[in-house]
Amino acid sequence: MVDSNTSVKTESVEGTHDFGRRLGSVLAAGDLVALEGDLGSGKTVLVQGIAEALEVTTTVHSPTFVLHHRYPGRVPVDHYDLYRLHGMEWSDAGLDEPAPDSITVVEWSDRAGVLDAWSTVRIRLEVVTERKRRLTFLKGPDRVRAVFSGQTSRA
Ligand SMILES: Nc1ncnc2c1ncn2[C@@H]1O[C@H](COP(=O)(O)OP(=O)(O)O)[C@@H](O)[C@H]1O
Ligand SMILES: [Mg+2]
Repeated sequence: MVDSNTSVKTESVEGTHDFGRRLGSVLAAGDLVALEGDLGSGKTVLVQGIAEALEVTTTVHSPTFVLHHRYPGRVPVDHYDLYRLHGMEWSDAGLDEPAPDSITVVEWSDRAGVLDAWSTVRIRLEVVTERKRRLTFLKGPDRVRAVFSGQTSRA
């Protein structure tokens, strides 16, 4: 069930980035974060915040032609963007299975059906206005839900 506590609104790029940092601080190796949302809804900005919390120092941008990047960090971050998957399935695209020793974040996760089962966290991002975005918690453990309801102070 989605209630008002499971949705947050951000008013700027920095707001989404900061929220990503809070989220990143509660993620653990083995998590697979599925991000659903249209082009420009802020998925990559959110991943940049998550990566910062995990002490990734390399540049984070959407993998396009390769579909996948791995960034070294406190925990390695596997960043997928399935925008170009075009009806293929994860395994048909030659993608690795999510690694148990890394945190996997997938943009356009709804393009691979298998991610419904694999994801430990699901978030939907929506464009509200030019600068406002709504981030909705769809699935995940309490430590992640708590970030959406503002119960974690670590930033
Ligand atoms: N509140 C906000 N949060 C995130 N991005 C925002 C926000 N307001 C405006 N933007 C703009 O929206 C775009 C989001 O881009 P990006 O994160 O690459 O989206 P996606 O990966 O979902 O396609 C950027 O151009 C950014 O400047
Ligand atoms: Mg993107």
